Amino acid sequence: MSSHSAPGTSGPTRKQVTLPSMRQMHAKREPITMLTCYDSTFARLLDEAEVDALLIGDSLGMVLQGKPSTIPVSLDEVAYHTRCVTAATRTAWVIADLPFGSYHAGVDQGIRSAAALMQAGAHMVKLEGGGWTSELVHKLVERGIPVCAHLGLTPQSIHAIGGFRVQGRTEEAAALLIRHASELHEAGASMLVLELTPEDIAASISARLPGLITIGIGAGPQTSGQVLVLHDMLGLSPGKPPRFVKNFLAGSDGVSSAVRAYVAAVRHGDFPAPANYDY
Ligand code: KIV
Repeated sequence: MSSHSAPGTSGPTRKQVTLPSMRQMHAKREPITMLTCYDSTFARLLDEAEVDALLIGDSLGMVLQGKPSTIPVSLDEVAYHTRCVTAATRTAWVIADLPFGSYHAGVDQGIRSAAALMQAGAHMVKLEGGGWTSELVHKLVERGIPVCAHLGLTPQSIHAIGGFRVQGRTEEAAALLIRHASELHEAGASMLVLELTPEDIAASISARLPGLITIGIGAGPQTSGQVLVLHDMLGLSPGKPPRFVKNFLAGSDGVSSAVRAYVAAVRHGDFPAPANYDY
């Protein structure tokens, strides 16, 4: 029986999601589902809906704290929300974001920050950027800390980028993204979030690096899985939603159904639809 054949309603009906089990899903081309999560109530709900991976994203700065970017989020705040999430997570894989400034000063600082998030209950840490982050990725993996990298639109660099816009559009930018993805994979990253990149770039990275689990957000369907910010996919975020977001609460009969609809849509290849990534 597949570990995903019976979405749970009471008690865990699947085994713990692990890095090997996600690698297996990736190898079998079973799409991996991920959502951001910041508290124990949603952690329980998402876990029961069999979302594969929960991300304590530094998006919490914008979503929970009402800040204009992710930059003000502290390591202690991510650790606090990681403890809240892991208090109620039974089988999902848990990833915690290393926030801005918690790994920028050097490898030693990055290792200490990652250790704090692992002690808060995370199974994996996520960090943004390529090139300068490869050494840290290597040192973390060497120390038994699984790493998810994050390329494309990297919100911690929003002021350098100049706005929330699609990345990798020029030949040069696309080549740099592909190079960074390859270096990060070589350094030991086992997962890569690709945010707001043209579909063909995400497809090309996924095809060139078959051992790397790629998770897209606004990067088209040809990745190993998908992630959305929870409040976006529930239609709770203010303003006009970006094109890559779908409101799964609209037309569903509650939050749990909306999350289950997201899981089903990703698994069946119905999300993202062309309208979500036709840039
Ligand atoms: O912080 C976050 O929520 C993220 C996702 C958008 C991938 O990094």
